[in-house]
Amino acid sequence: MWKEKLIPMTIGVVLHMPLVKTLLSYRTGGTIEGKYCYSVWLRHLKMLNSVQNGIPKRVAELGPGDSLGIGFAALLSGCESFRAFDVIKYWNVERNLNIFEELVVLFKNKAPIPDNTEYPKVQPRLDDYAFPDNILSDEILKDALAESRLEAIREEIKNPDNPGNTFVKFFVPWDDYKVINPDSIDFVYSQAVLEHVEDLEGTYFAFSKWLKKGGIMSHSIDFKCHRTTKSWNGHRTYSELEWKIVKGGRKFLINRMPYSAHQELQKKHGFSILKDLPAIMANDIPRSKFSRRFRNLSEEDMTTSEAYMLSVKE
Ligand SMILES: C[S@@+](CC[C@H](N)C(=O)[O-])C[C@H]1O[C@@H](n2cnc3c(N)ncnc32)[C@H](O)[C@@H]1O
Repeated sequence: MWKEKLIPMTIGVVLHMPLVKTLLSYRTGGTIEGKYCYSVWLRHLKMLNSVQNGIPKRVAELGPGDSLGIGFAALLSGCESFRAFDVIKYWNVERNLNIFEELVVLFKNKAPIPDNTEYPKVQPRLDDYAFPDNILSDEILKDALAESRLEAIREEIKNPDNPGNTFVKFFVPWDDYKVINPDSIDFVYSQAVLEHVEDLEGTYFAFSKWLKKGGIMSHSIDFKCHRTTKSWNGHRTYSELEWKIVKGGRKFLINRMPYSAHQELQKKHGFSILKDLPAIMANDIPRSKFSRRFRNLSEEDMTTSEAYMLSVKE
């Protein structure tokens, strides 16, 4: 096992060098493509509509990454406002504008939701990837895609720091739940983010403050090792000290929190879980090889590689 750990730990050491850190923190993943943002948003919207009908008015996203595209898709579905929270500002105005225009075309064409053949790693999976006409009626789309509204959103995308913006606001970095008013959000979502968050408890606390009573949150979480070992769950074999070295100078890596921690924290902060869809992978590592912190995880935590969770604030 130590040989397997050597390269990730060396990378961690190199990542203490500021220049390397800057170069490697340039991109995060999926939101570089309009189609990906469209697919992710419509998956969350369909899941939301499986428990609560309609378009949420005020939405918030944790960890948008390379662009604010998932939130733009929300606005193009008729949501009134979108608030984005991240720890690093990966996006830029030019990319945001390009993604926005890609999304406008996809919505105008009522394109089917890009499915698992196109995005095999994206959760949640759906039974049906047809455009959700039942949620996004022609009437809703007509208003949401009205040229004057699109122009107003474009203006805000071009001027993201304008304090008068209403459609799109961002908070980067955010470290205090008080950056927005309590009970001011109807729907919170995240895609491949909660496994990275350092202060998971503080984050669920913030969600519970931001969401109104009856508000919904929708999260897709990836518990795998994110290339820190060969085995999908080998990240839990590193001791605390070894893991510090692997993390290196990065602001965040993965928090290694198991599935049950999310279930517990959501309940602790006043949420009822409405849908809990874990993906299971076999654990091929003997328990004795896991670090002390993870050796006694339940069988469910040991084998849950991803989860999609939909919860309501009570
Ligand atoms: C793997 S990327 C996912 C980006 C995007 N959601 C996607 O689907 O491509 C993880 C994102 O989580 C963000 N992140 C990490 N810790 C965070 C925190 N405490 N609060 C908000 N965002 C965070 C990162 O900066 C990054 O943008």
